[in-house]
Amino acid sequence: MNESNTDTLLPEACAGKIFEFSGSKFAPDIAAELWPKILQHKWLMSEKLGRDVGLRTASIDFLGNIDQAHKEFMAYKQPDLLAEMGAQTVGREIWNTISDSQPPKQVVERRIILPLTEEKLARKHGVVSPKTIIFFGPPGTGKTHFVKAIAGVLSWWYIEIAPSMLMADGIDKLGVNLRNVMEKARQLEQAVIFIDEFEEIAASRDTANRIDKSITNEFLKQVPLLKNQGNRILLVCATNYIRQLDAALLRPGRFDCIIPVGGLDDKGRETILRHYLSRLNTGDVDIDQVTALTDRFTPADIEYMFQKVAQSAFELEYTSKQEYKVTTETFVKVVAQITPSLTDEIIEEFIQDSATYSRA
Ligand SMILES: Nc1ncnc2c1ncn2[C@@H]1O[C@H](COP(=O)(O)OP(=O)(O)O)[C@@H](O)[C@H]1O
Ligand SMILES: [Mg+2]
Repeated sequence: MNESNTDTLLPEACAGKIFEFSGSKFAPDIAAELWPKILQHKWLMSEKLGRDVGLRTASIDFLGNIDQAHKEFMAYKQPDLLAEMGAQTVGREIWNTISDSQPPKQVVERRIILPLTEEKLARKHGVVSPKTIIFFGPPGTGKTHFVKAIAGVLSWWYIEIAPSMLMADGIDKLGVNLRNVMEKARQLEQAVIFIDEFEEIAASRDTANRIDKSITNEFLKQVPLLKNQGNRILLVCATNYIRQLDAALLRPGRFDCIIPVGGLDDKGRETILRHYLSRLNTGDVDIDQVTALTDRFTPADIEYMFQKVAQSAFELEYTSKQEYKVTTETFVKVVAQITPSLTDEIIEEFIQDSATYSRA
């Protein structure tokens, strides 16, 4: 390259110039994309040969076979990165625990899954698959569960980034940590990156007195970078409190989809009930009756109810020394001890938020 700068980014002062790497000329935007890859290739060549390879040699080698060179780098770096980021695999079956009527399964299927699995058709019609998504809704409605299900059905890596991890080095390092994590994420292929409790790091500037305000700015820088990449990466952020998020983040163009995750209808509850029932030692259970009993239960409430049912069946058999089978009666007793999470107030608030913030 005819510039002496070896930063990972092309200096802004160079904007508008034509760049020359080892005899080939490139427009600035192409050069900006190639430059970090050439540096990566230089690193990889040096690593493989056990000596420092010069920029010129690396450029020539890289430009001779751009696609292959970049793939090689990714393959070399990927296992380290995946381990470092705590990447997990998720089974496809988790998607099937979600009934078609459970919001937002249909939106997710149409907007996120299909354009990625039917890539050719999507391209034909100019459909661009979303890269950045927010899930919002009351606690326990299945936001995390959905993100895992998406990773599972796509067979992509699932990487969870906890706000506490980003804040581990103190609030003032939050921006730097976020940038580092996103830089790593951008090098991956086929990964769902999940930031839970998003409001912890992305609350509105007016109220976020505890947290360095630069975090929203850092985020606003990272989102377009992620979108410009050709990689198959999905960034999903989840929050119980969409109202607290900085309005700057919610403007069109930042997140592609803002999706409400709300309560369950009868069909949705029945599907989850059947899923958990299959793990119990059951006698006669009237599923319609249990479905009716669990109105306003979130998936988390249902899970809790099953834990209690299982524990009580186990204890009863232990004390009586006689086989205990779970029946409708067992559910009636246990449900009486549980207060459903969804109240009129929460539902009303969620309906308002859905009208205000949803974008699919
Ligand atoms: N079909 C389902 N949809 C959503 N959650 C489910 C489903 N089946 C079981 N669950 C369980 O319900 C619990 C609550 O879901 P979670 O995703 O943690 O909610 P949130 O992230 O919205 O607080 C989780 O333990 C999840 O595994
Ligand atoms: Mg969650």
